[in-house]
Amino acid sequence: MLRKFLLTTAALVGITAMAHADEVEVLHWWTSGGEAAALDVLKKDLESKGVVWKDMPVAGGGGEAAMTALRARVTAGNPPTAVQGLGFDITDWAKQGALGDLNEVAAAEGWDKVVPTALQNFSKYDGKWIAAPVNVHSTNWVWINKAALDAAGGKAPETWEEMVAVLDKMKANGITALAHGGQAWQEATMFDAVVLSMGPDFYKAAMIDLDPAALSGDKMVEVFNRMAKLRSYVDDNFSGRDWNLASAMVIEGKGGMQMMGDWAKGEFLKAGKKPGVDFVCIRFPGTQGAVTFNSDQFMMFKVGADQQKAQLLMASAIENPSFQSAFNVVKGSVPARTDVPNDAFDDCGKKGMADLAEANTKGTLMGSMAHGHAAPAAVKNAVYDVVTRHFNGEMDSAAAAAALAEAVAAAKG
Ligand code: GAL
Repeated sequence: MLRKFLLTTAALVGITAMAHADEVEVLHWWTSGGEAAALDVLKKDLESKGVVWKDMPVAGGGGEAAMTALRARVTAGNPPTAVQGLGFDITDWAKQGALGDLNEVAAAEGWDKVVPTALQNFSKYDGKWIAAPVNVHSTNWVWINKAALDAAGGKAPETWEEMVAVLDKMKANGITALAHGGQAWQEATMFDAVVLSMGPDFYKAAMIDLDPAALSGDKMVEVFNRMAKLRSYVDDNFSGRDWNLASAMVIEGKGGMQMMGDWAKGEFLKAGKKPGVDFVCIRFPGTQGAVTFNSDQFMMFKVGADQQKAQLLMASAIENPSFQSAFNVVKGSVPARTDVPNDAFDDCGKKGMADLAEANTKGTLMGSMAHGHAAPAAVKNAVYDVVTRHFNGEMDSAAAAAALAEAVAAAKG
């Protein structure tokens, strides 16, 4: 009897050990309702392939807290299998030699031919695939409550002046015209769109080329004036609010609109809301035809031979076209490959895919500064700092433009 028990236990332990051989530990910041629903699509997909999912969530939109947690793990010599990463952060880890090599699976599956070059610039380093891109988000969106828009005249704004007029009407109607969460990365997300509204050439000069004249000049002063104007439409309790709570205000009609990347759509969908019926998605007025993008990628860290099989399985699962469709429909983003049909996507998703293709052709596809695709972290943080201080009334627009040029120059080193 005892022997039988011991044998059974040993068998069970054996099974557990086997299961854990195909385990991935995944560090990410997808903790809001919409984000978690999308993550679940990935988790279930991997589980169906026999891969055990070990979750390591680190809350905090934009991923700053997650990146701090990651540094601690790498310093301790124990990196997770896969880590959500953005743009230049991926390149930084690659430069440090911390990332693995996905070339075997990438070559077998032909990733080079289907992943857009703008993404490959971050997914590859030194000829090696080091990360698996899961989506393309963009930051120059506005999410509007449909009933609140109807009460404000019903026409979605196409210019800055029209948007100010709609915001004024919403304010007069007694709601919080602009639902916003006062966190530096959220202000920076809005800033992406406002800079882009001065023209894609200006965005490129200021945010990508980091040209001191563009950073400090009259157009940048106007950008800060617009940021100050937007500040006048937020409620008294905006400070520190999480982005998904700002989305909830628009979902419930307490807020008129939110200026946020298309992960916000994930919240609307999770709440059962329909585009065109309950909410309206538009490009930030003045940015039509251009896109500030960011792509979530799973950086694959150098792990022991025992974990490599599961890591490659995960990378392959992520690039699967039907997974790309299923995941991005829920997440609010669009696929990271060019050959995924748009059938399953709602109107905002279809627009997102068309806008991305158009911007790519016209040369108006720009990396998001707020989400790590325009410049490395030091510069991004310098921008965050000036933008948030100005938004909180610590300096006027002329002083902010001067401070921005100075901070960026110092961060560039
Ligand atoms: C972005 C990320 C999105 C979304 C957002 C808010 O940086 O790319 O996937 O999660 O942060 O958390």
